Amino acid sequence: MSFVEYSDLIQDGDVAIVYLNHISAMPVKVKHGAQTQTRYGVIRHSTDLIGQRYGSKVTCSKGGWVYVLHPTPELWTVSLPHRTQILYTTDIATITMMLELKPGSVVCESGTGSGSLSHAILRTIAPTGHLHTVEFHQQRAEKVAEEFKEHRVDHLVTVRNQDVCKDGFGVVGVADAVFLDIPSPWEAVGHAKAALKKHGGRVCSFSPCIEQVQRTCEVLADQGFQEISTLEVLLRVHDVRTISLPLPDFGPDPAARAEPGIVDKAPLPAAPNHSSVTMKTTTPPREMPGHTGYLTFATKPRT
Ligand SMILES: C[S@@+](CC[C@H](N)C(=O)[O-])C[C@H]1O[C@@H](n2cnc3c(N)ncnc32)[C@H](O)[C@@H]1O
Repeated sequence: MSFVEYSDLIQDGDVAIVYLNHISAMPVKVKHGAQTQTRYGVIRHSTDLIGQRYGSKVTCSKGGWVYVLHPTPELWTVSLPHRTQILYTTDIATITMMLELKPGSVVCESGTGSGSLSHAILRTIAPTGHLHTVEFHQQRAEKVAEEFKEHRVDHLVTVRNQDVCKDGFGVVGVADAVFLDIPSPWEAVGHAKAALKKHGGRVCSFSPCIEQVQRTCEVLADQGFQEISTLEVLLRVHDVRTISLPLPDFGPDPAARAEPGIVDKAPLPAAPNHSSVTMKTTTPPREMPGHTGYLTFATKPRT
């Protein structure tokens, strides 16, 4: 198992994703002799996991069952232990495309935070690219480096424990793309420019507040960045459900009453109409996740 390469069978030392239902999943470090408690009962790693195929349905001790899935950045994002706010897949998908990331890309990122975005970047740039990620909080930097090792992607990433606004990314003239998710991104724009290759590259900054965006755009323009554009992406999920709609009751049919010879008869009382149609459809949920942040993209031109 690795986050950038698929394997068929679950092995000792893997990180597997236990999928409980469509809104809850948990990562499990697979270990001979270990057990994991779920709401459906215990999973015994030696018998229930090791040697089984990824995607298997595993019956837990209370008779309930779960699916055990191969890890992906998307599943990691919905199951990882939060140490910070994280980026979710809707923003990550847009960032990956707009930064033009591909196998072999060299990327700089700060802050690393909980590593949600980092895992997606690593999967995209593997097997030949590299991620230089900067996190000034020491425990967060150490923890994420540990996770990269457990997920067998540490050969693709360098974690630096420093302040990106003061000390930059630790590399100059090597990056195809730079991503910023810090409270004062405008203070890191100069370092982003220095980290990008001489023949140019792309930059993205994620900020929740429009005032942060304004300051960042001003500095990007001052530093000679072009194609500056800010956007927001909102996801609308639809639930599939079967609904029943009552048919409208328009009262008795006047044509049915127009019998020849019967003129002055009082109208028949309308029979209550209880008929309905049942159909399968999709409905958006009543509550929808709203604003996450603005994504500001820009291009450093060839110098
Ligand atoms: C919101 S989190 C990033 C989340 C990350 N994008 C993810 O998807 O998991 C912001 C991180 O930036 C770090 N940070 C803030 N300012 C920084 C700076 N000047 N240099 C380095 N790291 C910084 C914080 O410690 C925090 O861990």
